[in-house]
Amino acid sequence: MAGRQVTIPPRQTASAPSSAGADVSARDERWQLRIRGLHKTFGVQHVLRGVDLDLERGKTNIIIGGSGQGKSVLMKHLMGLLKPDAGHIWVDGEDIVPLGDVQMARLRRKFGMVFQYAALFDSMNVVENIAFPLLERYHLPRAEVMERVRDLLRRLDLADVGGIEQKFPAELSGGQRKRVGLARALIDRPEILLYDEPTTGLDPVATKNVDEMIRRTADEFGVTSVVISHDMASTFRIGDRVAMLHAGQIIVDGTAAEVLKSTRPELREFIEISGLVPTPPRPEVRP
Ligand SMILES: Nc1ncnc2c1ncn2[C@@H]1O[C@H](COP(=O)(O)OP(=O)(O)OP(=O)(O)O)[C@@H](O)[C@H]1O
Ligand SMILES: [Mg+2]
Repeated sequence: MAGRQVTIPPRQTASAPSSAGADVSARDERWQLRIRGLHKTFGVQHVLRGVDLDLERGKTNIIIGGSGQGKSVLMKHLMGLLKPDAGHIWVDGEDIVPLGDVQMARLRRKFGMVFQYAALFDSMNVVENIAFPLLERYHLPRAEVMERVRDLLRRLDLADVGGIEQKFPAELSGGQRKRVGLARALIDRPEILLYDEPTTGLDPVATKNVDEMIRRTADEFGVTSVVISHDMASTFRIGDRVAMLHAGQIIVDGTAAEVLKSTRPELREFIEISGLVPTPPRPEVRP
């Protein structure tokens, strides 16, 4: 429960632990989300195998890892869209795993989520898409809803797109769709923003724009951001902290600078293949 002092074991991550040594408190000013021993199996597939991770308040926390490693599954656990088989997730000191539907709905108001493929409603225009979470939860006057929608369109550089309010998702570019998805996630003024691969499928310029938008959103709205990415350039451009999920566990975690220096082979391979740092020359092979 929130308020009660709960101690939890330190994380099992090999490098740069955020909370090494003795047991730590589940409620902690620095770590807004704390995950310990998270397991999730689908049928015979054991996807999460004891995930331990702390996510820092007000910072941009990036989770990297190969395709199919369980990044999206992990993120869905954070806002209760999936229940783990074992383990705990504390949000501001409150263990969310045992929460029922009503309490979970209350908790979800802390979160905004930008889904992997924007997940806009095709039959709704931009305004209806962005306003949806508000209309679903509250009975606000239409003028107030429109004011919030237009404020976000302005802040996300969408206001100048001619006729944007009435456009449908199919009439938007990929980058515009991502921004509308972000506006929808922001409309209810969340404390925590989850982004599932916000730049996948975008060209380098659009990628940079979305990166800037994530950074700016973090700074302007003061939110805690959790971003799933397999774009290494983006990761080190915007990440304050970086964690790598591999074979169902967090194998590297720390500040971006610490992680960039990690010698874990899985991470080195990821970074080197991305071309972010020069690949060391291969030793010459003589016939
Ligand atoms: N609802 C589900 N039911 C059954 N299996 C699932 C479900 N959701 C995910 N999985 C499986 O869990 C594994 C991890 O999926 P996940 O979507 O988390 O991968 P990911 O790391 O996000 O990959 P990508 O980078 O390709 O998005 C996959 O093998 C997937 O098939
Ligand atoms: Mg995914």
